[in-house]
Amino acid sequence: MAVTLPTKMESLSKTVQELVMKGYNEVPERYVHKGGSSGGIISASAPLLDVPSIDLSLLISPSPAGVEELKKLQSALSSCGCFQATNHGMSNMFLDKLREMSKEFFALPMEEKKKYGNTADDIEGYGNDSVLSEHQILDWTDRLYLTISPEDKKRLKFWPENPPSFREVLEEYIMKLKTLNEFILKAVARSLNLTENCFLQQYGENESASVIARFNFYPTCPRPDLALGVKPHADASAITFLLQDKEVEGLQVLKDDLWFRVPVVPYSILVNVGDQVEIMSNGILKSPVHRVVTNSNRERNTLAVFFIPGSEMEIGPVEKLINQERPRMYKTVKDYVSIYFQNYQLGKRPIDAAKI
Ligand code: OGA
Ligand code: NI
Repeated sequence: MAVTLPTKMESLSKTVQELVMKGYNEVPERYVHKGGSSGGIISASAPLLDVPSIDLSLLISPSPAGVEELKKLQSALSSCGCFQATNHGMSNMFLDKLREMSKEFFALPMEEKKKYGNTADDIEGYGNDSVLSEHQILDWTDRLYLTISPEDKKRLKFWPENPPSFREVLEEYIMKLKTLNEFILKAVARSLNLTENCFLQQYGENESASVIARFNFYPTCPRPDLALGVKPHADASAITFLLQDKEVEGLQVLKDDLWFRVPVVPYSILVNVGDQVEIMSNGILKSPVHRVVTNSNRERNTLAVFFIPGSEMEIGPVEKLINQERPRMYKTVKDYVSIYFQNYQLGKRPIDAAKI
């Protein structure tokens, strides 16, 4: 029997998982990226990106291997804007536990997940894209969006109680990432021959910075050539940590105007520079534009954690990185996340608003 497409209202109010459960073999109009006359424009067969792997334990070593690793870090972040972190201090078992608990959450009955549901004007909680305009193309994904820090912005009513270990395991992960975030901001500064704290100073204290966790669930999609899991964007953060699915690829990065697939490395954590570190580095380090493609036969689960300077912090290019050959590229900005969303909604690349 042919399954007809949902009406416009239906497709707006549903999670992607609900659409998939209905067994549609087409994607609703609101999810379609229109291409040329043949329609499909999205290719999952992009070439593989050689994302450098960085051994974090070497980054503090004064040995030749340590110096080499720092160079590799700098070169990774100024070319593709990301690297695969190894020796990050988290066990395989722990990373599997995180992945498992995310899968368990999205596998709960819809009714239970909707207890944590987001609303039209608030992205926090469970659900899919907030619909902000008639023309917006929606992402083929359901998310659980949680503010972890600052402490007074945390809203536990959105934190799943099921699986029972959810809160505790997530808190533990974030605690470990906070240490890594500081460690990486320091290493990145050293890799550019700057004093260790110069990026960290702009980032500010952990008490005022915001940390957002986004559990992304990508259901199978009947038309991967038409819909995207996440449309092209760069992150508004200073640093983003992505725990990818252990088996299913999907992330692509734009480099030299071409899309490249990011490989799955099961127990590495993918670290990428966000717009705010690109600004601090006066454009030397690149906040990569990336997107997620969908897949017709396998679901995909990822966990992105964003480290964002407090909204009162002034973010601007470090003086030492401004010179005659490299004039100042960016203004000093405050509350970049607001600038980001205003521009994102207008369909512009947000960081351009900070350019001089
Ligand atoms: C994001 C993101 C990539 C992925 O959440 O900002 O880019 O593979 N996610 O889920
Ligand atoms: Ni992203």
